[in-house]
Amino acid sequence: MKKGRVFSGARPTGRQHIGNYLGAIQNYVALQEEYECVYCVVDLHALTTLTDTDKLRANTEEMALDWLAAGMDPQKSIIFVQSHVPQVTELHTILSMVTPMGWLTRLPTFKEKIRIQPDNVNYGLLGYPVLMAADITLYKADSVPVGEDQAPHLEFTREIVRRFNFHFGPVLVEPQMKLTPFPRVMGLDGVNKMSKSLDNHIELASSPEEIERRVMTMVTDPQRRYRTDPGRPEVCNVFAFHGFFSPKEVEAIESECKGALVGCVDCKRALARNLAQSLAPFREKRAEMARDPDLVWEILRDGAARASLIAQETIAEVKQKVGLP
Ligand code: TRP
Repeated sequence: MKKGRVFSGARPTGRQHIGNYLGAIQNYVALQEEYECVYCVVDLHALTTLTDTDKLRANTEEMALDWLAAGMDPQKSIIFVQSHVPQVTELHTILSMVTPMGWLTRLPTFKEKIRIQPDNVNYGLLGYPVLMAADITLYKADSVPVGEDQAPHLEFTREIVRRFNFHFGPVLVEPQMKLTPFPRVMGLDGVNKMSKSLDNHIELASSPEEIERRVMTMVTDPQRRYRTDPGRPEVCNVFAFHGFFSPKEVEAIESECKGALVGCVDCKRALARNLAQSLAPFREKRAEMARDPDLVWEILRDGAARASLIAQETIAEVKQKVGLP
């Protein structure tokens, strides 16, 4: 017996990086064992920024390939594309009627978007959290695994559910936030969160050569200037990654770094090797699936068909409660 239903979504950002893996994907994979999981590529949300929309299809396919190769399993979970189940836009409109404007304009995530794209403050951007609330409630999810940055959106969803249910009766499920049990994964610069837009990332699908090239650019302990200086693993980003990808060597590396027995270059080489090795099964599986992209789209279409069954039921119930004839 499963513990409940999980829903999570991610914008189609194309190839995923190890920050996405450690911060979200590995958790999605683990949750499949205990929960009924619904995982969604939120392509409509991606439209709010109106850049690269010509790449939406390719980015969706690349992300889905990464998800599937990493162990998100269509036998265990529903994996689909948001726009393939159009009821979400209906629910979005209905939820918008119980959404006070002020709740949207005061959200820190909205203020941040205005700062980033002052020339494109569109209505969809303001309604972004309403669409997210529609995602979660359409599938009656009771748990939503997200990172800390999404906490205001989750809180917003809970408030909308309470408001909706207060007006129309108990139809929607108030979801719990399941904070992803993971610290922020830093980028190669060691300062910013790993992200594609900052180009400080390593793609899961990279070749061993590409991994090595990228790892060699990583910033280490800035105070360690000479090979003979003792290093400080506790402030070194390379060491943090050894913690994830070099379980057998991490203790030795720690003491060798502190004792200046290993230099940063060798330490990075070891990381590149271990990273390439841990990602090898993923790389192979992905390459095999990438040979037949039609299969990926079939999986996503099948996911949408299963998601539709839940969506149709919820939307019928919602319309009836709201009084739509
Ligand atoms: N807003 C989320 C993000 O930017 C993506 C998202 C859309 C989402 N709908 C969701 C996450 C529903 C969790 C549940 O990362």
